[in-house]
Amino acid sequence: MLDFMEIIKGRRGIRRYQDREIPEEDLNQVLEAIRWSPSWANTQCWEVIVIKDSAIKQKLQETLSTGNPSTKAIGEAPVVITLCGKLQSAGYKRGQTTTKFGDWLMFDLGIATQSLCLAAHNLNLGTVIVGLFDQDKAKDILKGPEGYEVVALVPLGYPAQEVSAPPRREIAEFVHYDTF
Ligand SMILES: Cc1cc2nc3c(=O)[nH]c(=O)nc-3n(C[C@H](O)[C@H](O)[C@H](O)COP(=O)(O)O)c2cc1C
Repeated sequence: MLDFMEIIKGRRGIRRYQDREIPEEDLNQVLEAIRWSPSWANTQCWEVIVIKDSAIKQKLQETLSTGNPSTKAIGEAPVVITLCGKLQSAGYKRGQTTTKFGDWLMFDLGIATQSLCLAAHNLNLGTVIVGLFDQDKAKDILKGPEGYEVVALVPLGYPAQEVSAPPRREIAEFVHYDTF
């Protein structure tokens, strides 16, 4: 178990993976972290596909845009977790949007994805969030139903690389007090 701030600061996008299976209880813990994520009015609009099948991973790899540095990771990681979302659920009440932002699906899936990545890091497992791919093609491959979208792919496995942290803006550069 790592210290909480160590977990937050030490998680990195991992793009190379060892050829090593993940214990089932660790996979369950990562899924449990998604389960307990907050969501709009507790709508829990996420659906999660756990992919272990090499042929499916291979097909998914082909949906990544040319030059995406995570292409190899999709085939290499023992598991790829796919975050899908139900449309018109988060941010909606009786079929109507409740805010100027419309569907809050991306927001809720973002939180769930961060829970996943932090829980994985706490178990010494690596992840990388992949958003730059053809979501429609991925939905076809994964047989996603009407009313749902595939949003992000997250390879999960034991890291085969050490990555240094990309720089962050200083707190003083983005925090405002009292007014913007
Ligand atoms: C919404 C989102 C989409 C991302 N999509 C990709 C991607 O398609 N390919 C990739 O290699 N990294 C992707 N990343 C990872 C970021 O590049 C990475 O998180 C960022 O550079 C900071 O590095 P760190 O995660 O190691 O702190 C994505 C991250 C987020 C949050």
